[in-house]
Amino acid sequence: MAAKERSVFRCAECGAEQPKWGGRCESCGAWNSLAEEPVGRTGGRAVRGSRDPAGSPPVRLATVASDELTRWRTGLPELDFVLGGGIVPGSVVLVGGEPGIGKSTLLLQCAARLERAGVPTLYVSGEESPHQLRLRADRLADDAGSVHVLGETNVEAMLHHAHAVGARVVFVDSIQTSYTDALEGAPGNVGQVRECAARLMRFAKESGPAVFLVGHVTKGGAIAGPRTLEHIVDTVLYFEGEPSYDHRILRAVKNRFGSVDEVGVFRMTGDGLEPVLDPGAAFLASRVTGVPGSAVAALMEGTRPMLVEIQALATKAGFGTPQRVTTGLDQRRLALLLAVLERRGGVPCGTLDVFVNVTGGVRSFEPSTDLAVIAALVSSVRDLALPADAVFLGEVGLGGEVRPVTAIERRLAEAGRQGFRRAFVSARGRVAVAGIELVGLEGIGELAQRLAA
Ligand code: TYD
Ligand code: MG
Repeated sequence: MAAKERSVFRCAECGAEQPKWGGRCESCGAWNSLAEEPVGRTGGRAVRGSRDPAGSPPVRLATVASDELTRWRTGLPELDFVLGGGIVPGSVVLVGGEPGIGKSTLLLQCAARLERAGVPTLYVSGEESPHQLRLRADRLADDAGSVHVLGETNVEAMLHHAHAVGARVVFVDSIQTSYTDALEGAPGNVGQVRECAARLMRFAKESGPAVFLVGHVTKGGAIAGPRTLEHIVDTVLYFEGEPSYDHRILRAVKNRFGSVDEVGVFRMTGDGLEPVLDPGAAFLASRVTGVPGSAVAALMEGTRPMLVEIQALATKAGFGTPQRVTTGLDQRRLALLLAVLERRGGVPCGTLDVFVNVTGGVRSFEPSTDLAVIAALVSSVRDLALPADAVFLGEVGLGGEVRPVTAIERRLAEAGRQGFRRAFVSARGRVAVAGIELVGLEGIGELAQRLAA
């Protein structure tokens, strides 16, 4: 084991350095933000030992080899898509998500498929023993038998074994259970998480393997530990979904080697995760038509359109302040839309309890779903089902005006492909899409009238 190094304490908020630990950063006043760090560390150089101070000389960009051709396909098409075409050698990918969502399953499947393609891997788990990993692997449709697994939480030991087995892709499950000898403090504290990530990062950059880090997510939805973790890694993927539904969405929120906001869709089955090859339709599968309070919207997830169902239920409030509850939608957005609906659409809902869901565990923070929310609300208040073959695409402003949405052609084309024949859209910026009748709206008052007709 390496000798303990001297350490300082650095604030995770402002980066100020202090010789002693304290509950509060003296520089920015943040509470509980100080974390231990080896002394003299600038990107961890102090712990590297003797090194040529000049480092490697600068080179002309044109002479640097392009890595376009050397991406490793994982064999999971949806994962490759989100990564921007496969795994880039030497890259570090952070996979965040709530417990039980399927991170370990996804990465073990990825390891299995890489092995099958001839890429040596090492799966390190600090949360499960090799025996438990075996039980998990036995459930999978993929054969993970040739994957090297290691039950370890010490980063130095992980690196030793990664070298020893010649792993090209290393999976660390999870970064919060890992610790380094260089620091005191329990695994999971800010300093440990940061330093472990830095060491694994250095290993990836200097030796060339790619590293996947599993990161647990806090209640607020951020990756537990320092915010700086997201800045130092190359790619950040979030694995989302409601554990009670089958569908899982893998979303790139940062990607140095591809576009962000692309999503991959998976289904959790009895034998592991299965890529969903037609994500546009995946979330409408369980829709029941002819029921009041249901409207279909088309979200853009990166470059892909996905149809989702918005359900609203408006019912007379029992007593006190009416409730406004949302799932998969911003609650303040609902409050705004209800106010607009009442004032500009002439539909009184001030005394109603209102519940709005995006079904299938999808979360929408796009204003393009405004019109579908309004339509679902009107439908619920009037207890009249909306036409089953209609989609609703529009942002709604405070004046009740219906505004055009981005990428409307692609959204409409997907709706057409899924069998929708009518689209309620903004009267401004209209487009033509074969096979879909467009109903142009200036304001939401018109929507209420048209639906009554
Ligand atoms: P897991 O990958 O352990 O989640 P995480 O690492 O994000 O905490 O997934 C756990 C859940 O997935 C668990 O509730 C069982 C379920 N599961 C399946 O439904 N099918 C399977 O084949 C496997 C391996 C797990
Ligand atoms: Mg896990």
